[in-house]
This record gives sequence, C-alpha cells and structure tokens, in this order.
Amino acid sequence: MSLPRLLLCLCLALPPPGQSLSLLPPDLLLSDGIRLFSRGDWPGARGRLQGALRSLAEVRGVKLRCGASCGLLGAPGRLEEAVLTRADCLRLCERLELGEPSLHRLTEETERGFQRGAPYNYLQIIHYKLEELDEAAAAAFTFYVRNPWHEQITQDVQRYRGMERVRAQSFRDLEEPSHRVLYSQAVSLLSEGKFGPAVSRLEESLSLALSALEECRTLCEGTRESENETHRDLSEVIAEYYVQVLQCKQRCVLEDSVRPGQKRAEEDIIESRLSLLQDGYARLGDWEAAAQIARCLLLFHPQNETMRERLQEYEGKLQDRSKPRESIISYVRRAVSEKRLLYYAMENLGISFHDRDSWTPEEVIPESLREKISMEKEAEGQNGGDLPYEEVTVTLTPKQMNGTSRVTLDGVMTEEECEDLLRLAQMASSGTVDPSHARLYYHASERSRVLAQSYFDTKTLHFSDTHLVCRSAIEGEQEERVDLSHPVHADNCVLDTEEKECWKEPPAYVHRDYSGILYLNDDFQGGDLFFTELDGTTVTAELRPRCGRLVLFSAGGENAYGVRAVTRGRGYAIVLWFTESAEHAEQERSQAKILMGESDSNKENTEKDAAEGGRETTRSGRETTRSGRETSATGEETSGRRQKKRASRKFEDEL
Ligand SMILES: *[C@@H]1O[C@H](CO)[C@@H](O)[C@H](O)[C@H]1NC(C)=O
Ligand SMILES: *[C@@H]1O[C@H](CO)[C@@H](O)[C@H](O)[C@H]1NC(C)=O
Ligand SMILES: *[C@@H]1O[C@H](CO)[C@@H](O)[C@H](O)[C@H]1NC(C)=O
Repeated sequence: MSLPRLLLCLCLALPPPGQSLSLLPPDLLLSDGIRLFSRGDWPGARGRLQGALRSLAEVRGVKLRCGASCGLLGAPGRLEEAVLTRADCLRLCERLELGEPSLHRLTEETERGFQRGAPYNYLQIIHYKLEELDEAAAAAFTFYVRNPWHEQITQDVQRYRGMERVRAQSFRDLEEPSHRVLYSQAVSLLSEGKFGPAVSRLEESLSLALSALEECRTLCEGTRESENETHRDLSEVIAEYYVQVLQCKQRCVLEDSVRPGQKRAEEDIIESRLSLLQDGYARLGDWEAAAQIARCLLLFHPQNETMRERLQEYEGKLQDRSKPRESIISYVRRAVSEKRLLYYAMENLGISFHDRDSWTPEEVIPESLREKISMEKEAEGQNGGDLPYEEVTVTLTPKQMNGTSRVTLDGVMTEEECEDLLRLAQMASSGTVDPSHARLYYHASERSRVLAQSYFDTKTLHFSDTHLVCRSAIEGEQEERVDLSHPVHADNCVLDTEEKECWKEPPAYVHRDYSGILYLNDDFQGGDLFFTELDGTTVTAELRPRCGRLVLFSAGGENAYGVRAVTRGRGYAIVLWFTESAEHAEQERSQAKILMGESDSNKENTEKDAAEGGRETTRSGRETTRSGRETSATGEETSGRRQKKRASRKFEDEL
C-alpha cells in the first residue's frame, strides 16, 4: 500500500484534529495537579487531576482506534513490510490525533501510578476540602479498592462512612468496568431466582468482557520494558519483544478478572460468566442455549465428567447436537497458540512465563517443563497471595516449615535499614530517638503488616502491638547453655502441654490473630526460633535469624514456639502482633494518641507510638518495658501544620 493512499483513508476515519490536538499529556496534568495540590490550590488541582484521568482515557482511546484502523497491512508472507507499514500507520495516526507521540508515552512508573488509582487519593482530599463529600467518598473508595492495604485510605473511607451527609451509594468504584457491574448484578439476580434478567445481564457482561479483553490486548502492543541493548541480533531483539507482548496479552485475562484490591484472580473472567450462564439457561429450561454453553465450557475442561453429563442431559432434550460459540472457540484457540509459543520460548530461549490459567491443556506444556511447572503450581496453591513487594521472597513455605500458616520471608529490609534500626534500638535504651529512625520503624512494621495480610490473604490486619526486642547473652558462662530465651508458648492461647491443648482464654491475648518476628541482625550466637507440636517439646522447624528476615505465623496453638538462649552477643528483632478486629487494634495504640492530644488518625502517632513502645530484654526471658511516653513534639503542633505535613506525606506516599 502506498503512503498517500494510507494517509487519505486515515484522515477519513478520524475526527477533525482541531479539538484533540490540544490534548495535554496525562503525566503533565498529573504532576501539575500535584504541584497545585501541595500549594493548597484545591480547585486548580481538581481540574488538573480530573483532566489527567480524562486525558489518559483519551490517549488509550486513540491507541485503540489507531490499532484497529491500522490493522495488519502489507502483503501476506512479507513480514518486514507488514511490520514497517503498521509502524508507520500507527505513528501517523497517533500524531494526527495527539500530536507528537513521544509526548503521550508514560514511563512505567507513571503508568503504574495510574493503575493504582493514585490521582483519586489526591482527589478525595481535594473534594473534602471543597466540601464535596459525596465525590470525596467516591474518590476515596475508588482508591481504596485498588489499595486495600493502605492504612490511611482505609481510615479515611471509614471516616466518610461515619458521616451522615454522605450517601451510601457514593461508595462506589468510579473506574469499575461495566462488565463487572453487570456481572455482580447478575449474581444477585440469580440468588433471588430471577433467571431471565440474570441471563440477559450475563450475556451482556460476557460480550463486554470479551471486548475489554480485546482492548487490553491491543494496548499490549505498545509495551516495551527495557531499552537497554548493546550489540544484539535482530532476531534476538524481535523475539524478546514479541515474547513481552505475548506475556502481556496473556496477563490481560488475569488482570481483568482480578477485582481491584484482590491479590489473585478468583476465577477466569470468561469461564465464570459461562458457568453462571449455563446454570441460568438450564433453570430457564432453554436446553439449546444451555447445551451450547456447556460445549463452550468443555473447551476449557474437556475432561470434566460433571460437565459431560450435563451436556448429555441437555442434548437428550434436543434434536441435534449443539456447537460451541464461535467467539469462545477462537478465544480458546488463540490463547492456546500463544501459550504454545511462550512455552517454546521458555524451553528454548530461557524466558520466564507464569501461566496462571488452570485450564491449560497438558500437551501444550513441553515435557521437559511439566514437572517443574506442576511443582510451582502446587507451591503456589499453598502459598497464599502474591507478595506486593518485588524484593521480598518466600524462603520457606508453610510446607517446608512443616506446619500450617507459617512462612519465612527474606528481603523485607536492606542491610542499611537494619543498621539504622539497630541504632534506633540503642538510642531507645538511652531515651532519645531520632525521628527518621522512628519513621523507619514505622515503615518496617507497616511492611510486615501488609505482607502478613497479603500472604495469608486475610481481612485487613491491624496492629495489636509491636516491640523492639533485644536478647543478649548472660555475662560469663556461655557455650553449653541449653536454656530458652523465650519458653515455648502460643500467642493467643494458653498452651497446655499435658493435655496437648491450647486454651483460648485470658491471660492470653485472645484477639491476636497473626504474629511476626522481623530480625535485624545475625552477628550473635543462639537465639534461634523454633516451632513445636502442642507437647511443647517436639520441634517441627527451626530458624536462624538474619537481617531482613520476617517469620510470620498464625497466633494459635498450631504455632507453638520458643526462642533459644543467646549465648554470645545481642540479637535484635521487631516483634509484631496483628488482629483482624479493629476494636482491639485501637486498644493498645489509641492510648498514645490520646496522650498526644490528637484524635485524627495520623501516621506520625503510630511512628512515635511504635518507637516509644521500644522494649528491651536484657536478660534471657525477662522483659522490661520502657514506659514514660513523651508527648511533646506532635502534641504541640498546630493542626494546620499537621495537616500540611500529612498532605506532604501523602504526597511522598504516592510518588
Ligand atoms: C543496561 O545494561 C548495562 C550493561 O549490561 C547494565 O549495567 C545496566 O544496569 C542496564 N541498565 C538498565 C536500565 O537495565
Ligand atoms: C467440573 O465442572 C463442574 C461444573 O462446572 C465443577 O463444579 C467441578 O468443579 C468441575 N470438576 C473438575 C474436576 O474440574
Ligand atoms: C522440616 O522437617 C524436616 C524433616 O524432619 C527437616 O529436615 C527440616 O529442617 C524441617 N524444616 C525446618 C524449617 O526446620
């Protein structure tokens, strides 16, 4: 195809350039909005941030339109020509609508910020300042569903819920795609036995979900993760890029089916809809439609006996055999052929591919990889949620720790952070605390909380208590010590080693649900952590402390544990207890807040509180608590300044 013809057909397909040429790039609007926000120019910031969201949607729209209108040009079988003409077409198309394309390319980080809904966290504060409470609640909720572990937003949403002037329907996700809205409606209609309306919503949801997938896949073609190559073969570069695009496309199914805030896709976006549809049609006695859907489902799980029986039952009532829908056939076929390519690249080019679909037919997976993959799947099944921090790794799974609900993570803190916290521990014992270290303490405990919550896939966890603990060797006699620094016990029940029971009653802290120990150093002898059976003596797992290592476990009798005596040097750790019950969270912490004359929730409190909760264990087993909380610094701040600090901290949070 010659260039002038191409240009001509594009011009006809596109809206007049005048209005959209002036579209400002989303990242520019975002950073300008944040600048105005930090100056307290609420209306200005609102305009920019809303503009950023609109601009982002517009840019995506342009990319989709261009992707569709550029199609696959060039003669079949002539790859180079097809690739080059498409690139040319896309560039031209985007330039016509948006201006210089490079202006509208977002860095990966900005892209992630938008995905996390970062602008909504600013917007909720802005709306609040402007007394637009319903909008504030909606923006807060939108940010919350994407970041349910975010402590401040959780509290803010609760505060809005407590406000009489905020309507209940304001708590909605402003970015929820319509296929999901329809799906939830269908689910509740089904539960009320209204099958007709439920089925029609499901059909609509299914078709919208298929188009959303298509859009997501189209946008994948714009991704490029690294621009860092020196002398490399053309084929190498192309293969790598192509694999990235395929991986992105395979993730589309998943990302779309993860409800914001959830760690994992509960169910496949397409399968889930089909499976409810089958049910709905069967209830309505529409055997033809039910059989058709059953055939679709069998494309995913050809071996499922239940499904086969159902299909037989439906078809028994019909004249003809049914056929699956064309849209689903091509969906499955395409997914399978992409998986084949990715597995090929995995086997031969050493790329990694994480196939999260449970339905992938075994024959697609190369034999040499099958065992490894099925082992990974199994581990993942046990492993609970994905971890939100890239640098944190699971060192020992519950199975490797010979128990349930216990896990060892590494990389929670860097060596440097450990050292700063060790300094904090030393200062805490002399009564002075450097605020930047106190912040680090807060940061470390907050990370641990988020990790516990995501690994065990719990409800929101709250701190029940945290301590900075030091265990040191007794002067003099050492090496042969076999006594314990902390006798075997469980955290939320009273361990009865005779009866092999753990009684959930006082004086145990029965509201504690999970416990964590975050180690700061390993330059000492002894101090190993060990878990036992309920008899308190049969050791099931034993662990060596290490900087940045976090051991998390549920706080019941299933995790009775003890700590061996330290025989040389000093071991430092942060010990954390978490609860799922908000009331109990407040009990241990709110006291400090009251002392500091602050009713609003504010991280600073938690930091100080945490730092002052610093507890020292000087002798084996005997803990001495430092009380005497200082109220000065935060208590005397004017609320205006505090507000500003809070705003600026949010600011740091986001960027
Ligand atoms: C680029 O490659 C060099 C050399 O391989 C490496 O040291 C550097 O970290 C890379 N940069 C990025 C951004 O990946
Ligand atoms: C087979 O399909 C039925 C109905 O959808 C489902 O409940 C069941 O879990 C499936 N069985 C297996 C082994 O996948
Ligand atoms: C789990 O049990 C096995 C076998 O008894 C043991 O070798 C292993 O060290 C235990 N795991 C831990 C973390 O102690």
